[in-house]
Amino acid sequence: MRISSGFMKASHPIKVNAPAKINLHLEVLGLRTDGFHELAMVMQSIDLADYLEITSNKEGLITLTVDDPSLSAGNENLIIKAAKLLRDRFGNNHLGATIHLQKNIPIGAGLAGGSSDGAAALMGLNALWGLDLTKPQLKDLAGELGSDMPFCLDGGTQLCFGRGEKLEPLNISSSSMAVILVKDPAVSISTPWAYGRSKELKGSSYLKSDFEFEQRRQQLREKSWLRFLSISDPPPLNNDLQQVVEPEIPAVQDALKLLSALPGSFGVAMSGSGPSCFALYSTYVEAKEVLEKNRVRLEDSGLESWCCSFLSQGVTFES
Ligand code: C5P
Repeated sequence: MRISSGFMKASHPIKVNAPAKINLHLEVLGLRTDGFHELAMVMQSIDLADYLEITSNKEGLITLTVDDPSLSAGNENLIIKAAKLLRDRFGNNHLGATIHLQKNIPIGAGLAGGSSDGAAALMGLNALWGLDLTKPQLKDLAGELGSDMPFCLDGGTQLCFGRGEKLEPLNISSSSMAVILVKDPAVSISTPWAYGRSKELKGSSYLKSDFEFEQRRQQLREKSWLRFLSISDPPPLNNDLQQVVEPEIPAVQDALKLLSALPGSFGVAMSGSGPSCFALYSTYVEAKEVLEKNRVRLEDSGLESWCCSFLSQGVTFES
């Protein structure tokens, strides 16, 4: 399979690849005046991806089908929201699209699957409808729809500040690192719930001023592990939401315990607001070998598992 990035104009059906992300670092700095949390994160794209197949029409009809019946294909789906926002802001009423989503990224898992699908819809429809929006314009639009969505467009390894939408790309040549990713299919976590728990439990110790936020952002920018992203100086894997989610969600406790017992990893953590968790390995080959030896044990504990490489890009067209 060849993946190409960038823009293209198209009148035929197109396929767009929407990869998941994990958080190598997630720090909750404080509360913002808009009610969201001020964050300092390092996000990393991985090669577990959903696929969108999109055909355009001139009847103004936007329809979505999903191969996973547990996921809504209605107006609350970020794909539909993205398509309508793009059309209303930059297109006209005649622009329509038939979209099919092949869902591979688990839902409500802390992997930004929904955000990546929405970002893929923006990029795909921009090309199909010939709107010619630039990447920065698409990222602005993505930021209106979801905090993680701008990152999903660009992907790779990035510092993400603000609500998560302020991106600072890192100057890292493609990392060969990989993860074993696990999730209990019976458990999903609502992102607002996780942030709400953080506010209840830790709100009194949140930083208060922009000056303090900037100090913490700068401390993160200067971390040596961000220069290479390799096992010679492995990421320490910090997730502030894990501290509030893990004590309340047995599926996260079990996943972290099982992952910690696997040989050869350089750390384990929860991703985003959970409940998916991962163990970090120096290479895909090593991670794959460990996963194959332990897959049955993870399955017997009720966990789905994947072996994923780090990606240096986000949403891409598939050719
Ligand atoms: O932006 P997104 O739709 O992903 O956010 C979902 C919810 O997560 C928000 O409504 C908010 O409750 C919480 N959130 C937050 N601070 C952020 C991002 C998300 O409090 N930076």
